[in-house]
Amino acid sequence: MIFAANFKTNHTRASTKAYIQTLESLAQKVENPIYVFPPLSAIDDFATSKLVVGVQNAYPARNGAFTGEVGVEQLEEFAIKTILIGHSERREILGESQESVAKKFAFFKEQGFTIIYCLGEPLEVRQEGQEALQEYLFAQLEGIDLSYEKLIVAYEPIWAIGTGVSATTADIRATHQLLKKVITQAPLLYGGSAKLDNIKEIADISEVDGVLVGSASLDAHNFFAMIEASR
Ligand code: PGA
Repeated sequence: MIFAANFKTNHTRASTKAYIQTLESLAQKVENPIYVFPPLSAIDDFATSKLVVGVQNAYPARNGAFTGEVGVEQLEEFAIKTILIGHSERREILGESQESVAKKFAFFKEQGFTIIYCLGEPLEVRQEGQEALQEYLFAQLEGIDLSYEKLIVAYEPIWAIGTGVSATTADIRATHQLLKKVITQAPLLYGGSAKLDNIKEIADISEVDGVLVGSASLDAHNFFAMIEASR
């Protein structure tokens, strides 16, 4: 099981440093790959052997005239080689289109980054039925090289993100089976209200290769308890 913590716009520079120190020492004996995505302002060259620190977003350029953005040159300073792309909050709130998400993917692939690529449907689409669901999800894979060896995909139904209500195990299994028809190599994570209460049942779904966790990852001890509980 892969574990990934997405802090979103939470934690400061100081609290991120403390978090990483805590999780690093708790996780010494853990074999699971663990990714942590702090806010950009908290990124540093963390001395970690157990954790991989990545960014939640960056601009697809080495450097240049892109006011307010951070490019590869700035990430290299902190040895960052991992990025989240396509999160529903960036698609919905920041207006990232499939075309721009695919361009970002192609750029960071070219740079050799490990990419956690997110996709997921809103409730209205799920309620329309299986055909609509498949069409919506597969459209979010357009322009994405699914054979990229440093790709990890995260399926996150939008209606389960930050709501406290995760998808049912039956829904997760069925949707992962559907996605695995086309995602044949990359690990497939589930995200959306994964927490200590439900991690065991999510981890037990054989089509789930890991989890991307928001709210429940914000406390290092709680996130570590999830890792422990999944084993
Ligand atoms: P959540 O967020 O765990 O708070 O639902 C997951 C995510 O958006 O990655």
